[in-house]
Amino acid sequence: MKRIALLTSGGDAPGMNAAIRAITRRALFHGAEVFAIRRGYAGLIDGDFVQFGARDVGHIVQLGGTILGSARCAEFRTAEGVGQAVDSLGKHGIDGLVVIGGNGSQAGAHDLAQRGFPVMGVASTIDNDLCGTDVTIGVDTALNIALEAIDRLKVTALSHGRGFLVEVMGRDCGYLALMAGLAGGADVIVIPEIPSDPETVASELRAAYDRGKSHALVVVAEGSEYNAEKLSDYFGQHHERLQFALRVTKLGHVQRGGAPTAFDRILATRLGAAAVDHLVAGEEGMLVSMQSAKITTTPLGEIVGKQKPLDPELFRLAQSLAR
Ligand code: F6P
Repeated sequence: MKRIALLTSGGDAPGMNAAIRAITRRALFHGAEVFAIRRGYAGLIDGDFVQFGARDVGHIVQLGGTILGSARCAEFRTAEGVGQAVDSLGKHGIDGLVVIGGNGSQAGAHDLAQRGFPVMGVASTIDNDLCGTDVTIGVDTALNIALEAIDRLKVTALSHGRGFLVEVMGRDCGYLALMAGLAGGADVIVIPEIPSDPETVASELRAAYDRGKSHALVVVAEGSEYNAEKLSDYFGQHHERLQFALRVTKLGHVQRGGAPTAFDRILATRLGAAAVDHLVAGEEGMLVSMQSAKITTTPLGEIVGKQKPLDPELFRLAQSLAR
């Protein structure tokens, strides 16, 4: 394998830069040339390639975001776009590509693999919704950012005896909310995988106050049927009957912008290097990820278009501790 290219795609995730560094330096270690592609699949189609040496990835391991830029590229979702991408890779003499990203990005990698192009995916998204991996690059940092916010809100909630509602990201997946709720000691957790409604949330909160709590915390996943906005509207409309108000904090993109934790840097470094090793060994069309604390590969065809299920036992555990 003489020329390896890499790109970051979809929502940025803390640790992507550590993966970029590991892929670049591991490929150089194997004697390959490295070409970084800017702006994800959009840059791939446009031919936005730049050759990378070891110095180009210095002092980035600690940075959040992605130095390559990222994009959500509608054009690449068409057969014509995928064809243009393959042509562009051919024009630059690329023998293998590493795609760092989440579900949509790995679906794109699978499209390229189906056209016969050697590609490896590196599991990276703060949502941790990818099948074929226990954990994705970025989720640990995003979770810690959410927790810091939750801990701060609990301080003021305690001082004033108030109720707070925090919405976290995750798209259609409740992983971030469930883990933030579990680690942050939430009284109520609302996630898309386990349907709930405002009256249930209200009765759980009322029960918390009846048990003698002076404050309350609800953690909601943005993809829940009743997200922060809907719950807040409902509580506002029924304020007289429900007899308590919820102050709402929507964390949004704040969760994506942090410096990667040690866990994310190490995960990204290991996955990035392994992706190159597999390409050099002649393997392709796989997602490189971590399962049971080991670096593993799973055929992209087995994971694309699926969402990893949540462990309902963790939800029940959180419920049992909200006392
Ligand atoms: O997939 C990562 C993620 O941050 C989701 O949690 C969120 O729903 C989405 O991206 C936001 O996308 P954008 O940054 O394009 O608004």
